[in-house]
Amino acid sequence: MKKIILLLTTFLINIHMNAQTKNGDQQKVAAILKQMTLEEKVGQMTQVTLGVVSTVTDGVLDLANLKKAIVDYKVGSILNVTGHALTLNEWKKLITQIQDESKNTRLKIPVLYGLDAIHGQTYTLGSTLFPQNIALAATRNIDIVKSVAKVTAAELRASGVRWNYAPVLDCGRQPLWSRFPETYGEDVYLGKTMGATAVRAYEEDGLKNPTAVASCMKHYLGYSASRTGKDRTPIYLPEIELREYYLPQFAAAIKAGCSSIMINGSEINGIPVHSSKYLLTDVLRKELGFEGVIDTDWEDIIRLHTRHNVAPTPLDAVAMGINAGIDMSMVPNDFSFYKLLLEAVQKKMVSMDRINDAVTRILMMKMKLGLFDNPYPELAAETNFGKASYQEIALDAARESMTLLKNNNSILPLKKSSKILVAGPAAQTISGLNGAWSYTWQGKDEQWYPEDSRTILQTISNKAGAANVVTSSVKGFENSQNYDVEKLKAAAVNVDVIVLCLGENAYAESPGNTRDLALPDNQRLLAEAAIATGKPVVLILTEGRPLFITGIEPAIKAILMGYWSGKKTAEAIGDVLFGDYNPSGRLPFSYSKSMGEIVLYDRKPSEDIREIFNENVLMNGYDPLFPFGWGLSYTTFDYSDIGLSSSTLKANDKLIVKVTVRNTGTMDGKHSVELYTHDMYASITPNMKRLRAFQKIFLKAGESKELSFTIDKNDLAFVNGELKTVTEPGAFEIMIGDKKANINYEQ
Ligand code: BGC
Repeated sequence: MKKIILLLTTFLINIHMNAQTKNGDQQKVAAILKQMTLEEKVGQMTQVTLGVVSTVTDGVLDLANLKKAIVDYKVGSILNVTGHALTLNEWKKLITQIQDESKNTRLKIPVLYGLDAIHGQTYTLGSTLFPQNIALAATRNIDIVKSVAKVTAAELRASGVRWNYAPVLDCGRQPLWSRFPETYGEDVYLGKTMGATAVRAYEEDGLKNPTAVASCMKHYLGYSASRTGKDRTPIYLPEIELREYYLPQFAAAIKAGCSSIMINGSEINGIPVHSSKYLLTDVLRKELGFEGVIDTDWEDIIRLHTRHNVAPTPLDAVAMGINAGIDMSMVPNDFSFYKLLLEAVQKKMVSMDRINDAVTRILMMKMKLGLFDNPYPELAAETNFGKASYQEIALDAARESMTLLKNNNSILPLKKSSKILVAGPAAQTISGLNGAWSYTWQGKDEQWYPEDSRTILQTISNKAGAANVVTSSVKGFENSQNYDVEKLKAAAVNVDVIVLCLGENAYAESPGNTRDLALPDNQRLLAEAAIATGKPVVLILTEGRPLFITGIEPAIKAILMGYWSGKKTAEAIGDVLFGDYNPSGRLPFSYSKSMGEIVLYDRKPSEDIREIFNENVLMNGYDPLFPFGWGLSYTTFDYSDIGLSSSTLKANDKLIVKVTVRNTGTMDGKHSVELYTHDMYASITPNMKRLRAFQKIFLKAGESKELSFTIDKNDLAFVNGELKTVTEPGAFEIMIGDKKANINYEQ
């Protein structure tokens, strides 16, 4: 009791102090704003890329251009790298020079630096890279998401940078999309739970603290839903769908305290989001109550004129974006925005109120981050870089991502004494295990990866002994030798098993655009050759999105989905292959069979019950190769019947749902217990299934545990025809594992 009172008192004192600090910060910001000229204000709203102030050498500033940007154009923010990741010392020097220059301005307003630390601190050499979000989503482990974000924040701040363009909250419902790996997958609940966890982890220590960074949720809104899957191309979504599947993640991140937001650079229903006052001001500010900074994405104000053709001139584009609600423009390659915004204000196309509003938000963020107190890289933050414990976190995260899709006749785990052929383009890749945003934007350049990064071939050799392992693979994902079927066949003659490593090399954004998700022909031929040897084939997939393997799957004995799981991907794969770790990942997306069969797990009834003509049974329902939530273990889990505190849920009451899970196999293991609901009848066609809760548990062989979930009407809600989130009275099913229970909701 004493402890609770103490905790409560500390909590209340903290709230009080935070409110006081906020008030204090607001007063300071108001005082600065009063002294600012229009030019200084417009400068604060201008963000340029590092290249604008750099020499041709990575990490080396051009001091004359730096002065031009900060003193002449008064820019408030700089982002990005010019090519590859820098050392900690290079960052220290660079940020120091930038902030030194800010001291030469009239009001000495510090510069806010931002980077894309998407899965670990992308742009500092020697940082620890973690699984991409798609792989983290497979862990179903909130603690892992939290630890990963904490380390990312620490290593970013250690580099002198306090603003992270993460988390990505786009919902991965279009597997063709080249940024699918950056998402938490196709489910809304997974996305909002993991996204809000990441936001809290980045910011909860308090932004003045050297372990925290300001987060930036992105890319508001609907970015992932492009019709063709090509990056930054049109989205057509009715608002009911936007609100059901794409908005809740942002609402949750705002509640979790997210400081800033980046806008989707494409268009929804013909309206570029950067020009949408409705989405930026009415929904984001007024409805969701977001108070932080709204940043554009890359060049997106310019593109209102040059790419979207909704603004007849560059000047109109600037006025359009700022009036819609943008606070800061990632210009980022020149100062055009600065000049045009000045002109727009002078011509009364943009009001001073709008400018003051934007600048206040930007200065508040700088104030909260402690930049006015000390804008320089902090010694206390630097000591948090590269701790040995981060490697453990990376290994845990990668292990829990591993998703065992198939294991016929328990061919896995392999015996360490087996003779193994390790083949395929991913056997000796590092970049193809890490993916996007890894020491370079595209992540492809292996020279920047830490020396102790391991390939799948290396970890298999370490486990089974070099004498037991042969390979037909070479370094370089694209190297033609990796696709040489004759070489593979010859190497397979004396082995017991073929471990075939297929997937995707790293890519990010538009360079990752694809026309097709079918396994590329050269990889398919390799798989067919491996199968034709008659040796058992174990397929390892390291890929950012699901490549269709429907044709080869029946002849493959085991399939392990490794995703792009960061620094420790290869170690985690090795551990699972040989049974040193029992896999527990669950697919965060539906692994479809083909383009024409992309149906998501939360499908509508008429997707489940299709019309059948000519006995075309193939056209029936949700029938992916592996469904959302799929993932095998080396042990088995059994579920008791579901116990309910009541079979009726009334109004705002809570319902307790209990289930006992037992590890019925012979190996200890982790397991995610997932609770789904199904609204039987509703005014809008209900989803067949919706994930509403999950708990990841560890059970020793033979052990059982009772789990308890608390749900209320919000867990049964959906967006209705009037675009309101509602729970309608009636019957619902609750599903956990293979068990079902029925409840009734009464208003
Ligand atoms: C991406 C953003 C990223 C920005 C800055 C853009 O191309 O869409 O996600 O934050 O670049 O690097």
